[in-house]
Amino acid sequence: MSPRMKHWTIEQIAWNRFDPSKVEPEVVPLVKAAAMVERNGDDYALYLKSVFRDDPDFARAADNWAVEEVRHGDALGRWASLADPAFDYVACFARYRAGYRIDVKADASRRGSRTGELIARCIVETGTSSYYTALGEASEEPVLREVCRLIAADEYRHFKLFYDHMKRYLEREKLSFPRRLRVALGRVGETEDDELAFAFHCSNDGPGVAYEHDRCLAGYMGRAMGFYRFRHIERGMGMIFKAVGLEPRGRIADVAAKGAWRLLCWRRDKYRAALARELAANSNQPGAEAAARAA
Ligand SMILES: [Fe+2]
Ligand SMILES: [Fe+2]
Repeated sequence: MSPRMKHWTIEQIAWNRFDPSKVEPEVVPLVKAAAMVERNGDDYALYLKSVFRDDPDFARAADNWAVEEVRHGDALGRWASLADPAFDYVACFARYRAGYRIDVKADASRRGSRTGELIARCIVETGTSSYYTALGEASEEPVLREVCRLIAADEYRHFKLFYDHMKRYLEREKLSFPRRLRVALGRVGETEDDELAFAFHCSNDGPGVAYEHDRCLAGYMGRAMGFYRFRHIERGMGMIFKAVGLEPRGRIADVAAKGAWRLLCWRRDKYRAALARELAANSNQPGAEAAARAA
């Protein structure tokens, strides 16, 4: 077994330590939504293998990576099913997959180059690594803490994996710094597209509820952004700087982290206000009171 494949399994998690009295109701919808996106990793691996079809080393790495992402989805899905026994992980994911399609037969990266694709992957892994760290640290439920700690460690390793392959392609493709930066910023901006918002819809809305991007995005972000602390953004900024070829621990990275933190606080408050309005308008929704209080 290669060092990249050693690893934890779902069965190793101490599920019997699950403590329902420590579950924060606001975390449950987030874990459900995250399970959808993670579980979709195998389709993303098909896309990656199609883009990198003449690179068997990378194809193998993408397969191992997908096994780990799917495991993240399964672990989060199982936790969410303990926290809310009415949650049907398999049915919700089937709904997500049916509505959110990845082009698994792409001939070229949608980022314009292979280096760009790998930089975008680094950004995604930076985001997940920071997010699970923040969520795990903020949660008091012991099993969720363990799951988040295991996943966050994987996401950081994924960052390093894509970073190493990116360096290899950068030598060949010589993608300029402005282009690398543009891909990175573009991918950060995509966080507000459909991937997460639709995952929130499929895992939290009842079957008769229509998908509305803004409502679902506020439902997700209004809850998720509250878990971040400056240290998570600072560390994430260092990783983004590294991915685009800048010094990760310098004065510019500090300034960028402070700016990103201010931006996050502003977005968080905006989403929270939207979420509070939504919950006030529909006060039968589970968690309405707690979310309105948090907002
Ligand atoms: Fe993951
Ligand atoms: Fe990952």
